[in-house]
Amino acid sequence: MSVKSQNIDPSFYNSLEESEKYAWSLLEAGIKDRKSYFHTPVVISKSKLGTVSPRTMVLRGVNQTALELQFHTDRRSNKVNELALNKIGAILVYDMATKVQVRIEAEFRIVNNANTLEERWSKMGSMSKECYAVSKPPGFEVQDPSNLEFDDDGADNFSILSAKVLQMEWLYLCYKGNRRALFDYRTEQFARSWLVP
Ligand SMILES: Cc1cc2nc3c(=O)[nH]c(=O)nc-3n(C[C@H](O)[C@H](O)[C@H](O)COP(=O)(O)O)c2cc1C
Repeated sequence: MSVKSQNIDPSFYNSLEESEKYAWSLLEAGIKDRKSYFHTPVVISKSKLGTVSPRTMVLRGVNQTALELQFHTDRRSNKVNELALNKIGAILVYDMATKVQVRIEAEFRIVNNANTLEERWSKMGSMSKECYAVSKPPGFEVQDPSNLEFDDDGADNFSILSAKVLQMEWLYLCYKGNRRALFDYRTEQFARSWLVP
């Protein structure tokens, strides 16, 4: 679906259902498409003190049926600690190519299924695996960043962060008039509504 031609309204322009479908398809395509901004959303957690921590993360999995997004991370990281204390966080993407912003409120959890973790770990390249083998946790102060200590294996530090989408806010920028919508998954019957942009 091309949205490049400004003379033709994209099929989702005036359709809540199509906008929602397109949002999920952009997320799904973002897993593999390294050039899409949907490949690297900003994931936001809240600290115990109420301060906000945003960080870029690579999107690794999308399951619309389960309303789930997945990311890979180090289980010793600040984000994991923060999201353990306060499970509700946010995910933000603005993709310049499609002029779409997606704002997600999500409930986060760490995936503890050993088979899933092993399977993902086995598919990871050695460079990525090395990041998880650093002896000290991410964010630890070091004297010399070029001289880090490593453990033999980082598999125990590898984790999958799962985000269950509670609501998704859609914003499509268009010179004819922007379109903003809310897809709310918190109730049994999902609610879709247009909002004033
Ligand atoms: C392009 C890009 C992709 C990144 N992908 C990840 C990722 O998939 N997982 C991750 O834990 N950190 C990733 N990071 C690093 C985080 O942004 C962050 O610096 C790090 O995870 C520490 O965050 P924390 O201290 O808030 O836990 C990425 C950074 C950039 C710039």
